[in-house]
Amino acid sequence: MQRFAHFSLFCAYLHPIMKRNIAIFASGSGSNAENVIRYFKNNRLLAVQLVVSNKIDAFVLERAQRLDVPSVVFSKKEWESGHEILELLATYNIDFIVLAGFLLRISDSLLHVYPDKIINIHPSLLPKFGGKGMYGDKVHEAVVASGETESGITIHYINEHYDEGGVIYQATCPVLSIDTPADVAAKVHALEYAHYPRIIEEVFSAAAAIE
Ligand code: GAR
Repeated sequence: MQRFAHFSLFCAYLHPIMKRNIAIFASGSGSNAENVIRYFKNNRLLAVQLVVSNKIDAFVLERAQRLDVPSVVFSKKEWESGHEILELLATYNIDFIVLAGFLLRISDSLLHVYPDKIINIHPSLLPKFGGKGMYGDKVHEAVVASGETESGITIHYINEHYDEGGVIYQATCPVLSIDTPADVAAKVHALEYAHYPRIIEEVFSAAAAIE
């Protein structure tokens, strides 16, 4: 047994680890995208190779340029079919996809090629305050309007329905009676920055290990 352990360590040493590539899909400011890109800058196993958006004026594109990550924008029609996007992902050998404030539905063609390899972060405790039209500040406004005493983040797999894929991880924060939507947004963003990169690393490292 002991000997076997030594032998597998020896094999791991001889075979260089194959790096896996991540693409980030984002529609807006991209503060989570930037946080994820920075986290994986010198990672042994995972690297962010590409940012893909649906908005020509999304600030995430500027962030990507500053961080030296190539970015591409596709039209709504191209997102609906998914074919041009799949070609681009194949060109960059993308293994996994991270959604970071991406607001369009992921096409069935992408879901088919990347089963359980696309994850999203949502700024509430799903199933509360999820679904079509629930994104960004709209979520925090709804949380405050409904008098919730806590909110948080949900990291989940993507499936064909908005915000309904299997939950991977949730973290909570208190919502005080004096909190404004901006206060809740600040608490939720802090949770996102603290947990999203780490969970991405855990989920995709585990997926890579069983491939
Ligand atoms: C984040 O809070 C993210 O959870 C949310 O959009 C924000 C994007 O901020 N995503 C959704 O609402 C998805 N339904 P960012 O562009 O600064 O990362």
